Amino acid sequence: MTSKPKTYHVKSFGCQMNVYDGERMAELMAAQGLTQADAVDADVVVLNTCHIRERATEKVYSDIGRLRKEQLRKNGKTPMIAVAGCVAQAEGQEIFTRAKVDVVVGPQAYHNLPDLVAKAAAGTPSLDTDMPLLSKFGALPTRRKVAPSAFLTVQEGCDKFCTYCVVPYTRGAEISRPFAGIVDEAKALVDAGAREITLLGQNVNAWSEDTRGLHDLIRDLDRIPGLARIRYTTSHPNDMTQGLIDAHRDVESLMPFLHLPVQAGSDRVLKAMNRSHTRDSYLRLLDRVRAVRPDIALSGDFIVGFPGETDAEFEDTLSLVDAVGYAQAYSFKYSPRPGTPAAAIVEQVPESVMDERLQRLQAALNRDQHAFNAATVGRTCTVLLERPGKLPGQLIGKSPWLQSVHLIGDHAIGDLVEVTLAAAGPNSLTGIERIAQAA
Ligand code: 5AD
Ligand code: SF4
Repeated sequence: MTSKPKTYHVKSFGCQMNVYDGERMAELMAAQGLTQADAVDADVVVLNTCHIRERATEKVYSDIGRLRKEQLRKNGKTPMIAVAGCVAQAEGQEIFTRAKVDVVVGPQAYHNLPDLVAKAAAGTPSLDTDMPLLSKFGALPTRRKVAPSAFLTVQEGCDKFCTYCVVPYTRGAEISRPFAGIVDEAKALVDAGAREITLLGQNVNAWSEDTRGLHDLIRDLDRIPGLARIRYTTSHPNDMTQGLIDAHRDVESLMPFLHLPVQAGSDRVLKAMNRSHTRDSYLRLLDRVRAVRPDIALSGDFIVGFPGETDAEFEDTLSLVDAVGYAQAYSFKYSPRPGTPAAAIVEQVPESVMDERLQRLQAALNRDQHAFNAATVGRTCTVLLERPGKLPGQLIGKSPWLQSVHLIGDHAIGDLVEVTLAAAGPNSLTGIERIAQAA
């Protein structure tokens, strides 16, 4: 590619932080005068990748091949391909050689994307996986137009070194974004149309500045006029301070939802994972959260088939699920990641055993999700409308407990509507507007 690109497409995989980074990269390209296009037409395609499990990594390579083939068939050319995200960080040089892409840029360096694209357009493929001390955030354009529910990265990286996880290697050490920059961006997001902000971080509840913690930040954001809802994710049990728990009691805009990964229910497995909490300390922590916010919806992450996990240890995970009653949760088969301590453990669990455990765990989690949804029927709450539904006049939004709620009525996306939850399906609920009911 030697001509200057005119159109771009950003495709993000994996976690919400990648969604946020993807939006910021799109804003950077737009600030260069490029316009957005479909992947099959764009001059530059940014693949914002995830490295957390093997399948996610392999997908990058197959995606690159497919993109090239599709554009060649349709337009007789191949696009410039920029690989961003955690695969870029972890396998930068290898992607260059194996997939011959034009740009490789890591999660801490993507403010340089316009320069890298310009260099590649001039014929020099470029790689930048630096983790500079000065953060990228200062070099990013101001937020202009965003959806009613927006993400805001406040913390990055992880110092916990769970033995299965690549994040400490790909995203680096825990760093907190400065308070002032976060508040400015939150105000800009509200000006750009956000009614809800989800604060993001690999260990978001480890956010700190001097003596202030995440709860202080939340209390300040709560004062921004027009910001109706605050959420945060993902948290680590060990960083769940009393201050943050108390914020769930005191701060009305802080939604009653907590994503608190536990990963497994057996103390032996938790220790081998280097989780630094026990089954019991996790359960007691949830008791403290429920004491201040009884209606809180709980969510978690689970890994089945961690090396050496026995049948009895897996049963401990199921009994923990029974004890908690999650409103929703994510569960994964263990995937050995190169360079992590767990990948070197000899006793890997056979795939067929992992399949069966995952099925049983997901059946239990689905059961609890349905039970949680059913238990909220009859409650009144606000719904933040986020997108159109399939039926005429139908809009879909989120309840405070992060459930999808369908609603028919004369409303716009971005409206906060007071509803009664009238019926629960497996994955969503139907809301009836309270004004409509009264009329
Ligand atoms: N294999 C399977 N799941 C993993 N996760 C992290 N690393 C791995 C791995 N190697 C899961 C954890 C984490 C979530 C983001 O991804 O459950 O909380
Ligand atoms: Fe990975 Fe553990 Fe850090 Fe979460 S806390 S990002 S699972 S190392």
